[in-house]
Amino acid sequence: MPKRILVTSALPYANGPIHLGHLAGAYLPADLYTRFQRLNGQDIIHICGSDEHGVPITIAAEKEGVTPQEIVDRYHFANKEVFERFGIAFDYYGRTSSETHKKTSQDIFLKLYEQGVFTKRKQEQLYDEEANMFLPDRYVKGTCPSCSHPEAYGDQCEKCGSSLSPTDLIDPVSAITGNKPVIKETEHWFIPLGDFQPWLETWIESRDNWKANVIGQCKSWLDAGLGDRAVTRDLSWGVPVPLPDNDGKVLYVWFDAPIGYISATKEWAEQRGNSDEWKTWWQDEDTSLIHFIGKDNIVFHCIMFPATLKQHGDFVLPENVPANEFLNLEGRKLSTSKGWAVWLHEYLDDFDPDLLRYALGTILPETKDSDFSWKDFQSRVNSELADILGNFVFRTTSFTHRFFDGIVPELANPTDTDMAALQKITVQKQKIEEAYKSFKFREAIHESMHLARIGNRYFTETEPWKTRKENPEACGNTLYVCLQICAALSVMFQPVLPGKMSILRKQLGLPGQTGWVNVNDHLVAAGQLIAEGEILFEKIEDDAVEIQVEKLKQKEAALSGSKTFEPLKDLCDFGNFASLDLRAGKILAAKKIKKSKKLLHITVDLGFEKRTILSGIAESFSPEDIIGQNVCVVANLAPKKMMGVESNGMILMAEDEDGSFKFVETTAEPGSPIT
Ligand code: 2FM
Ligand code: ZN
Repeated sequence: MPKRILVTSALPYANGPIHLGHLAGAYLPADLYTRFQRLNGQDIIHICGSDEHGVPITIAAEKEGVTPQEIVDRYHFANKEVFERFGIAFDYYGRTSSETHKKTSQDIFLKLYEQGVFTKRKQEQLYDEEANMFLPDRYVKGTCPSCSHPEAYGDQCEKCGSSLSPTDLIDPVSAITGNKPVIKETEHWFIPLGDFQPWLETWIESRDNWKANVIGQCKSWLDAGLGDRAVTRDLSWGVPVPLPDNDGKVLYVWFDAPIGYISATKEWAEQRGNSDEWKTWWQDEDTSLIHFIGKDNIVFHCIMFPATLKQHGDFVLPENVPANEFLNLEGRKLSTSKGWAVWLHEYLDDFDPDLLRYALGTILPETKDSDFSWKDFQSRVNSELADILGNFVFRTTSFTHRFFDGIVPELANPTDTDMAALQKITVQKQKIEEAYKSFKFREAIHESMHLARIGNRYFTETEPWKTRKENPEACGNTLYVCLQICAALSVMFQPVLPGKMSILRKQLGLPGQTGWVNVNDHLVAAGQLIAEGEILFEKIEDDAVEIQVEKLKQKEAALSGSKTFEPLKDLCDFGNFASLDLRAGKILAAKKIKKSKKLLHITVDLGFEKRTILSGIAESFSPEDIIGQNVCVVANLAPKKMMGVESNGMILMAEDEDGSFKFVETTAEPGSPIT
């Protein structure tokens, strides 16, 4: 057991409100973990805050015609409040625009600078001549060179996850003016990540308790080989580069944002009146540092930030980074720009936070993407929280009130069945504890609910409504056992349902501070008076969730009504078009490419020859499903080598609004020219 645990969850950009995808990725799991470990007697703090720098903020400000400061002020306070309402119990919620953060990140940059780690290099960058500025990261959009997604950003393709530089994009356009950028030279500071590769490989290899999805992503980065990464940007918003000749440059947001965890811990310590206390959490080896993040943040937390920390030398490294995959919504990819999202503040206007904590907790995307639907939410509330947990607690406490005046009966001459049910408390406690400690929150919640199931079954089997007259001692035993299970549940469910379980503990007369170690099979003493209960979970009617689905559709329709389409590409003269050799083809064979999640190795019959084409569709199609598929092929595309295989051509695909790919089909014979 470590001496202390420092939990961080990804600092959300203060450029918009919090939605269910955010919660499922980082904040709910981090809160479940922290609440459990605190209950378990661990010294633990949970640090978070707003990420207030970077292009996402400046773009949001430009869109609204306000200053970046106005944007971050608005969303910092709104997000802080909504997290509180939802019961995410951060110990400190900082912001990266604070003075402490500016100084901390500048100090860390300077230390690495003085160690001679960074190299300054000239670089060709995209430049918007109308807006008069360089276009880093999300200021450019274009076609992804790996998967042909037409809306990739200059720093990342959200479709295939590739990390990009603006100059990698095919047909880039400025996100500010829509203009085609020009290339201009600028100078930046780079961290040579390649120098850290051997150390990172050994370190990541030694992380035997990390999740497979996290290790997998790290390894594919390492396999591709780490290169230099610029740690500065030409922007007017951010932490100024702390060097005299900084040319108005700022630190790259992904350099300063994770340092936000350190600066927020400093502010937390100051607030507690012990400003040096942060050092214990960041510099003492007995700290176990855990970063909760979504999968799109893996490279920054497992490669870039550890390299910075390691090089600096004064800080602990993450013990674990239990990143989650993505949450879909009603079977479709969540998209804030398309209005396909459930905002937390809107949810909280209609429902109790604990219901969503439970429903989302049971479907967290821990190993693969998962789906939230309002029907599933309703069913989890009605058939699990109300019918199993709520029902068990209510039938136990109301029976005790009706027939035992609310007094916990004695356990007298218990049967094997009584004892077996009591023992299940310890069995489940063990399972739940294991699951929480290994970041398996779905399992922890499932095992918690399983104890309520056991309780219900036992209540039904022992038939206290019959034994009440025939065998009052047996009836008393049933109630004694069930009340112990209720009491254990009130602690076991505390991380998930903090609000409801505190009501239940009060009802049972359990001290608010009942810890995990105290959970056993005699939490409530015989003779103790318990308060009359209330229904813990009301059922949700069909129309309540139908309204939510309707709301979602309306939001999407409203946004698509006012949807502005990207401008069509520049005119292309006939000669250019005619230079493309488009041919009908048929897929003869397809297989996955080792170490690539995106690419399929496809053999296409072009009539006159068989071609090898690599296509970035592996996440949309299984190889066996596309054999025999009629396709259109750009047959004279210059060869390109990817993952050691040469691709000769491109299979044309159309992308639906929901991001799924469809083949552009033709029934013409393979080899027929398409004109
Ligand atoms: O992806 C994001 O929303 C980033 N703002 C997360 C930053 S996490 C940390 F590094 F601060
Ligand atoms: Zn891509």
